[in-house]
Amino acid sequence: MANNIIANISVPGILAVAAVLLLIKRVYWELTVGANRRRLIKENGCKPVKKYAHKGVLGKLFGYDTMKQSFQAAKQGRLHEMSRLRNFDQQTTIQIRNLNRDFILTIEPENVKAVLSTKFNDFGLGGLRVKTMGPVFGTGIFTSDGKSWEHSRAMIRPNFTRQQVGDLSIYEDHVQHLLTHIPKNGQTVNLQDLFFKLTMDSATEFLFGKSTNMLKKGQEHPDGDRFSDAFTYVTECMAMDFRTAQLNRLLSDPKRKDDSEFIRKFATDIIDDAIANRKDIEKGAGEKQNYIFLYELLKVTNDPYTLRSELLNVLLAGRDTTASLLSHTFHQLARRPDVWAKLQAEVDELGGQTPSYEAMKSMKYVKWVINESLRLWPVVPGNNRISVRDTVLPVGGGPDGKSPMFVPKGTPVGYSVWSMHRRKDFFGEDALEFKPERWETLRPGWEYLPFNGGPRICIGQNFALTEASYVMIRLLQNFRRIEPRDDKPWSEFQTLTLAVGNGVHVGLYQE
Ligand code: HEM
Repeated sequence: MANNIIANISVPGILAVAAVLLLIKRVYWELTVGANRRRLIKENGCKPVKKYAHKGVLGKLFGYDTMKQSFQAAKQGRLHEMSRLRNFDQQTTIQIRNLNRDFILTIEPENVKAVLSTKFNDFGLGGLRVKTMGPVFGTGIFTSDGKSWEHSRAMIRPNFTRQQVGDLSIYEDHVQHLLTHIPKNGQTVNLQDLFFKLTMDSATEFLFGKSTNMLKKGQEHPDGDRFSDAFTYVTECMAMDFRTAQLNRLLSDPKRKDDSEFIRKFATDIIDDAIANRKDIEKGAGEKQNYIFLYELLKVTNDPYTLRSELLNVLLAGRDTTASLLSHTFHQLARRPDVWAKLQAEVDELGGQTPSYEAMKSMKYVKWVINESLRLWPVVPGNNRISVRDTVLPVGGGPDGKSPMFVPKGTPVGYSVWSMHRRKDFFGEDALEFKPERWETLRPGWEYLPFNGGPRICIGQNFALTEASYVMIRLLQNFRRIEPRDDKPWSEFQTLTLAVGNGVHVGLYQE
């Protein structure tokens, strides 16, 4: 019977039924979602956002022209500057095509504030971050949203109190090891390499209670270098995933697979060991020992996957970031003897003593130099969120970009911290110059955002600033002079964070 009916329906009949169904679906959509959108647009006075003028059919369909340009610029280590000039020369918010999607890109502080804070619940991380980072870093604070993120944040937050972060003796140990790797006679050294080792050593000690000890001569962890290199390679691959929406994953990459496995195993072995020795750890809790993040987490959970995910997420946040901040700063200091001399004068006021936490926090010029370094070379130079419902951003619409803008559900909204930090209307005509003195009067709001803002603001901000200031001060106490040892201009080395493309090759002198 059923077969007879199907056999009797003609192709035009099937097409007619399909057309009617599609029409019903469309009418339903117009009456529900469409009506709601028109209401939002009208009530908020939204105007259309300016669209990037893509070239050629492939450009218009898939953003092929801008993607090609971005790849070329990334190869030359100038992606962020190229994007600033291309996207924000004429406007501060723009819609651009990328593969099959339209992205909104903005450098309007009001929009960034809405995305990260006032309309926090209208935006999420999006699936790409989870797909890209999840396989190695698991489900942790960086890779989760909603309740799962709230849980991670609540678990991690207590580990960053002033008491834990302010114990400078931990940093001093690592500085002493760092100093053994820096020639005293001006022989060339790549400080960036050393900073990456230093922050990996200090972060693994703080997080796992077992340092990679790459700088501790004679006591290096046998897998320390391998772990560190694997970490760098895998995060470099992840940056490529973000740029290509994971199209690069179509190519086989056995090194990435091995390195990912190595990272997971390195962390798992330490965690399994800590779980097995839990009783001893608890017994030793009363004794004076360095603060260890893993041991604190063990009080809340003993699930190996949760522990590994949270630890690797925080390691990701804490290692490259502080090393990159130090690298950008010393790259600049080597080229600015005037700034070096002013820093030296302030550091000399310590009379050669290692600084206390309070003394360090009152060193104004140190703070200005770090602020300025993070302004011009923000370690997280760009970021994005995806709208999880239809919403409105306060500016970016209309020909002058000053009207509110409608953002449909599922739209990626990217914000370029790099470009926002270089806006002349906020930072002055000399915005592109490295000028720590501007911080004497500068009190920026959402236009200065090295550590993000809103509920997902960086948890480790104070940790990072404390470690970076301490290392900087101690290096200035040990060396009177610094010289650049390459004449290459600054360029990018982009993993999940931004470091210096050519490294920081300098000579340091004690006299
Ligand atoms: C100069 C150094 C640092 C900079 C510039 C920096 C910047 C940032 C930024 C921009 C975010 C937001 C990422 C996003 O939401 O997409 C972030 C988040 C985070 N940072 Fe940092 N960070 C630094 C150092 C650190 C350190 C040393 C730690 C820990 C040891 C840390 C821990 C975290 C954590 C756990 C988050 C996730 C917060 C959340 O999603 O709730 N950061 N950081």
